[in-house]
Amino acid sequence: MEKKDLLYEGKAKILYLTEDPNLLVQVFKDDLSAFNGTKRGKFDGKGEVCNAIATYMFEYLENYHVPTHFVKKVSESEMVVKRLEMIPIEVVVRNVATATLAKTYNLEEGKVLKYPIVEYFLKDDRLGDPMINEHHAFAMGYATPEEMKMIGRIASKVNAIFKSFFDRRGLVLVDFKLEFGKHDKSLLIGDEISPDTCRIWDKKTNKKMDKDRFRYDMGGVDKVYRELYDRIVSAA
Ligand SMILES: Nc1ncnc2c1ncn2[C@@H]1O[C@H](COP(=O)(O)OP(=O)(O)OP(=O)(O)O)[C@@H](O)[C@H]1O
Ligand SMILES: [Mg+2]
Repeated sequence: MEKKDLLYEGKAKILYLTEDPNLLVQVFKDDLSAFNGTKRGKFDGKGEVCNAIATYMFEYLENYHVPTHFVKKVSESEMVVKRLEMIPIEVVVRNVATATLAKTYNLEEGKVLKYPIVEYFLKDDRLGDPMINEHHAFAMGYATPEEMKMIGRIASKVNAIFKSFFDRRGLVLVDFKLEFGKHDKSLLIGDEISPDTCRIWDKKTNKKMDKDRFRYDMGGVDKVYRELYDRIVSAA
């Protein structure tokens, strides 16, 4: 599929229009960003490894009838996706306390939560992505009550699917972020699912296998992204 005009260039991906108004090409860049874009980095091959992981994850969700924007992988760092009207809400699901959650509620880092927590954040870097609840989302017109209900359900289902997926690979799904959008009235998962958007720890050693290595200058970010890809695919 041929790329036409640029639609949007973000920090980690670029979206291009195509000859089909319903489809976009999503290009994964080698760039890394954290803390609302204030910290930047990159490594060679990052786009390829994230595209490969996101492809695997979206195809896996298809088997469970979870609706996503994914159509097909078309090159090492590009996938075709359905064009969405994005809902500017980041949906976070947490299984283990870490980062902001641990700090805010004074929970022990690494504490396994009794029940998964679903959180919503308004996707707005200038406001620092403030936390919102369903009522903010309805009241400010970002989504309807029905859409928020569906979003919560899909996010919980994705969590259940990937929790056991990672567990079988000796990994813990600590938390992850999803973005949703609308395509012909249906609600689909958009954006990406990758080590940029998930926290994944090794079950035995608690080694961090995700973007936290970049956020907190732990080193070896390229190595763990590739190792994660190998572990995801090898247990298939
Ligand atoms: N299928 C889609 N249709 C339209 N827009 C999409 C689709 N999937 C993802 N997007 C949007 O495309 C953009 C992808 O860019 P990217 O993730 O690089 O940057 P960002 O989200 O602006 O910044 P960051 O991820 O660093 O916070 C996001 O704004 C995302 O919401
Ligand atoms: Mg993004």
